[in-house]
Amino acid sequence: MPAYKIHEHSFDMVVVGAGGAGLRATFGLAQKGLKTACITKVFPTRSHTVAAQGGVAAALANMGEDDWRYHYFDTIKGSDWLGDQDAIEYMCKEAIPAIVELEHYGVPFSRTDDGRIYQRPFGGMTTRYGEGPPAQRTCAAADRTGHAILHTLYQQSLAHDAQFFIEYFALDLIMDADGSCRGVLALDLSTGELHLFKAQGTVLATGGYGRAYFSATSAHTCTGDGGGMVLRAGLSLQDMEFVQFHPTGIYGAGCLITEGVRGEGGILRNSNGERFMERYAPSVKDLAPRDMVSRSMTIEIREGRGVGEHKDHILLDLTHLGPEVIHEKLPGIAESARIFAGVDVEKEPIPVIPTVHYNMGGIPTNYHGEVVQLKNGNPDEVVPGLYAIGEAACVSVHGANRLGSNSLLDLVVFGRAVANRAAETVKADGAQARLAGDACDEAIARLDKLRNANGDTPTAVIRDKMQRTMQADAAVFRTGETLADGVRKIREIHASFADVKVSDRSLVWNSDLVETYELSNLLGQALATIVSAENRTESRGAHAREDFPERDDAQWQKHTLCSVAEDGTTHIDYRPVHMYTLTDDVEVVPPKKRVY
Ligand code: FUM
Repeated sequence: MPAYKIHEHSFDMVVVGAGGAGLRATFGLAQKGLKTACITKVFPTRSHTVAAQGGVAAALANMGEDDWRYHYFDTIKGSDWLGDQDAIEYMCKEAIPAIVELEHYGVPFSRTDDGRIYQRPFGGMTTRYGEGPPAQRTCAAADRTGHAILHTLYQQSLAHDAQFFIEYFALDLIMDADGSCRGVLALDLSTGELHLFKAQGTVLATGGYGRAYFSATSAHTCTGDGGGMVLRAGLSLQDMEFVQFHPTGIYGAGCLITEGVRGEGGILRNSNGERFMERYAPSVKDLAPRDMVSRSMTIEIREGRGVGEHKDHILLDLTHLGPEVIHEKLPGIAESARIFAGVDVEKEPIPVIPTVHYNMGGIPTNYHGEVVQLKNGNPDEVVPGLYAIGEAACVSVHGANRLGSNSLLDLVVFGRAVANRAAETVKADGAQARLAGDACDEAIARLDKLRNANGDTPTAVIRDKMQRTMQADAAVFRTGETLADGVRKIREIHASFADVKVSDRSLVWNSDLVETYELSNLLGQALATIVSAENRTESRGAHAREDFPERDDAQWQKHTLCSVAEDGTTHIDYRPVHMYTLTDDVEVVPPKKRVY
């Protein structure tokens, strides 16, 4: 193996990723006096958080009755009772100080007439434990909330003493023989040089893996790099079968049209002009949770009430909202609809279709952001030195279905939580554990192999096959047959990676090599997703099995753990759902039928 020069760095904590979760963790850790590095493959303000539109949930009660306990209840019900109730309690309670903190950091939220943060209704957010009217809980900066939050967090990061390594691609975790994480090996994309970040703690804030699918609202950078590294470290991912389809991606283009449109009064209509959600969710209608709306739209299309030449999509009508509401509250989607659908939203409805948007599954953690694994019978064994936050993680606060606007919340609450935890457990300027001389050998051998990969199949060809198969066989509705077929195909596609061809042998700005790493990260997670989906023989949240239409709590109220070896061998295990709370402020919510 040729020698690769490695630059060595020593930090207390290293954060991988500079989206909302990564930035909140980075400056939080620095604020606690820990020597912190943040490494990111894109410039921080280009991270995918920038694309979040509708808002961030917190029961501030600025625009009507609300209580964080209602938010807790809604999130558990939204999760279809797969969410961990201790973590959900933590998130919904901490939402309030976390948002006030964001306001103080300078996030330019939209305002009510009396100057408070503006809040809009979002799907599944209700009052009085589901018995009252919809809650106005989603704090918004027009329909560019993610942009506002990400830029503010980056500004805060610059005010703190954290060191950024921008356009560095994380290749692999550096693990000890005892299973502890000691840091990460990264490639400086501009020089092609390797950097070893030794750290007492490594925080994966690498986002989701939406690009395992053909049509996704996720940026092309959403390749689940943290999840891929975790699988290569021999650890499991959790609840990967739960993939969220956002009801309103622009037909054909896949761009997000925020749920905030329906929060402001927008309506979904079929080819008869009917507001069909009245039939599926009579009390909340268009503001039902995403899994239900996506299924309802799919049924309408299947039953011949879709619109367009192929009757294969649905219309989102906001023509009745009027120019004032559109200009003030929804300027971003008006622009997207014009550019990507050729539609003037004041005059015409937007053609939309359920589009992959979010991964509920990911790297299992507790509510401190510490990665956990099933070990020696303990389902909550902490992996020393390894943390995960944001969409990369599965805390699990979203369970089988995330409520809209709980994602930006998850980023800031758990980004903050990880900093608080590290402040308690990591010694500032503490000594690094000694690394074995060959600690990086495996990662470097892999780099060398991929860089020189001389098979017959270009990366893009394998990626296209994977994306089309996931789109067809791990869709809104699933059956044993389509899943079995999908598993077979994804196994073949995973195996075909052995024949990958990388054309560029250089190390400087080698996007061919980086895309190949990203593909291998995606492939492991695509396989974990479809294998876990075939395994779960019930319907829950976003996992809708036509052959098993009911939720089966007796057998399946448990988290799936799935590991994927380099050769594609998968192994499934389980962790129990946390049916307990942290305090007496709330009670455990026992499972019941999920109707809206
Ligand atoms: O529809 C939206 O604005 C998306 C929000 C979310 O995924 O939380």
